[in-house]
Amino acid sequence: MNNFIFQNSTRVYFGKGCVKEYLACLTRDAQTVLLAYGGGSVRRNGVYDEIAGILWNAGKTVVDFGGIMSNPTYAKVQEGARLARENGVDLILAVGGGSVMDCCKAVSLAARYDGDIWDDFWARPGVIDFEPLPLGVVVTVAGTGSECNGGAVITNEAKKCKTGRDYPALNPRFALMDPTYTYSVPKKQMVSGSFDILSHIMETYFSEPNEDNVSDDIMEALMRSVIRNLRAAIVDPEDYTARSNLMWDATMAENRVIKMGKKCDFECHNMEHQLGAYTNCNHGCGLAVLHPVYYRHIYQAGLPKFVKFAENVWGIARDGRTDEALALAGIDALAAFIREIGLPTTLKELGADKAQLKEIADSCGISQGSYRAMTHEEILAIFNECYE
Ligand code: NZQ
Ligand code: ZN
Repeated sequence: MNNFIFQNSTRVYFGKGCVKEYLACLTRDAQTVLLAYGGGSVRRNGVYDEIAGILWNAGKTVVDFGGIMSNPTYAKVQEGARLARENGVDLILAVGGGSVMDCCKAVSLAARYDGDIWDDFWARPGVIDFEPLPLGVVVTVAGTGSECNGGAVITNEAKKCKTGRDYPALNPRFALMDPTYTYSVPKKQMVSGSFDILSHIMETYFSEPNEDNVSDDIMEALMRSVIRNLRAAIVDPEDYTARSNLMWDATMAENRVIKMGKKCDFECHNMEHQLGAYTNCNHGCGLAVLHPVYYRHIYQAGLPKFVKFAENVWGIARDGRTDEALALAGIDALAAFIREIGLPTTLKELGADKAQLKEIADSCGISQGSYRAMTHEEILAIFNECYE
């Protein structure tokens, strides 16, 4: 394994009823809470009322910050920061998925910083030498794992750039995770969020080192868990076992544990983020289109790992196949799973404009952790292969 330092500062409260049990205590020291949420699902499924009720009963001043969109924009971050400053907010409570959590991480920074946080922390890495506004999160959809890391992916519409940074200082102070809150997530979002989990694991798994390492073993178990539990949750959306496993799979994929001792390939994410900047496509859907095609481009550079993926994740027997044939059978199994769960398979379905593919490809970051580094020409070739 490569050398590493590990720390994760988020305290997790997991399980049915955890919000009712712990929220009042966790917000004890705050007087004014910025209650942040997305486009309204929490208003419809009762989660907002449960949370606001707990805060009101505890005598808090609640400042409403709703309407955080999927793929949150820098303009929305600035709106939240203004609200936090004007109202003397001392805690942000983000209730939602990755978009709400990421937006609030950036708000927590912007509310305590006089300069332009895009220029100083997202356009290039910065140094946070001050305390961001404290943030707690209540997760309502499994996927990004944002609850347990300092990552925040923000879209700057003016610059046509969607990019993430991971600052440990932005780790939420606490994360409340009640799997029953995810029962109301529509199937389309549940499968795309689950594919995002799988993508986070695969992007770490398919990178060096190749020799025996505990991170790869954990990842094989996690990938099998996502596949098994997603199938179960599709059959019964209120299967508590399935929903709780998916929720924790998501956290495990992005709480830094599996990244220890590994390089990480983030190329499909780099490509998807820029597709998102141009098309506003759903994150998990974009990843689903890209992964099989990208892997058919790079598998020869990481052949032994692709063989393990076929055997240990998809349970494919060798049956006289060469390594190359086995590796390709594993990628085919991944593509078949994407079709089985109903995710899109072409960029056209995502609303991408063929005439813009070169511009999008040229704007993508190049991952240095992949088995074989891409060029912008090869990214364009992948986009064209995925188009229809
Ligand atoms: O907005 P509302 O009305 O709440 O509806 C949301 C939204 O439409 C809905 N939803 C959430 N909880 C629900 C629910 N619907 C019914 N019942 C519930 N309990 O789900 C939809 C998607 O929500 P969103 O937060 O956008 O999805 P996700 O969690 O996939 O987050 C996507 C964002 O996170 C970024 C992505 O790029 C994208 O911007 N990522 C963040 C990462 C991180 N911080 O570590 C890593 C990821 O790779 C990713 O890039
Ligand atoms: Zn992702």
